Amino acid sequence: MFSEKRPIMSNDSIARIGVFDSGVGGLSVLRAIWQTIPELPVIYLADQAHVPYGPRPLEEVRLFAEAISRYLISQGCKIIVVACNAASAAALHHLRAQFPATPIVGMEPAVKPAAEHTLSGVVGVLATPATFQGELYASVVERFASNVRLIPHTCPGLVQQIEAGELDSPETYRILSEALEPMLLAKIDTIVLGCTHYPFVIPAIQKIAGADVRVIDPAPAVAKQTRRQLLARGLLTGDISSQQFPNPANRTQFITTGEAERFRSALRQLLDVDAVPIQLRWNQNSLD
Ligand code: DGL
Repeated sequence: MFSEKRPIMSNDSIARIGVFDSGVGGLSVLRAIWQTIPELPVIYLADQAHVPYGPRPLEEVRLFAEAISRYLISQGCKIIVVACNAASAAALHHLRAQFPATPIVGMEPAVKPAAEHTLSGVVGVLATPATFQGELYASVVERFASNVRLIPHTCPGLVQQIEAGELDSPETYRILSEALEPMLLAKIDTIVLGCTHYPFVIPAIQKIAGADVRVIDPAPAVAKQTRRQLLARGLLTGDISSQQFPNPANRTQFITTGEAERFRSALRQLLDVDAVPIQLRWNQNSLD
């Protein structure tokens, strides 16, 4: 567990949404949650002490995800959004079994809408190794991709580039070109973003692939699913009152297990918000 245990937001009667990722990727989901669920405060936790998750064994990512979820629930979160494909692949079923009273919303690669949309019948999928190894990916491929050709790529190093704020550096273009060029030769017309970091490089992807290739970011669908779950559990009245929190950053507590100042710069760059994140330390001994 974490060494910091005190509640970080004051009003304990309000339901909170807990959102986590290995780092800044889940901010692409947070953006959509801000738009879709303007009524509730959010706690966003970036596990930057362990980023990237993608190359790690699924068992290890599962332990991180469980400890983070337990922490967020202890802080008053009534729903958990696993804003990370790798952690969803590693831990979604496990988290639902461990925390049956808390709805857990996860990510899966958007193969279904891609298969419905593609005209060429060829779809590129960008995700990390953990996501490709997980059962969720195998299951969406089996259910929805029988009539399309999927071309997967893990984009090694891309998550680290995005963590470093290198959204359009030569190295970022090199990684993306290496992934996309064979896909373009194979006539993809759709790209699925199976990692929540990747929406932050959509402009670079579109520059390489061309504006005609459709890029699917699942964040809006995940935010809608989160809203549906909240409504089903009676945690939202259904009245949208965006006036309640005119500035969404003011209703969000940011936490990182990495460096607070670095995370603060990322928040400025990626979300255009100035917030002061809290830094939490992992205590290795208490994770089991
Ligand atoms: N943003 C995450 C995902 O959606 C994790 C990437 C990583 O840490 O490797 O998979």
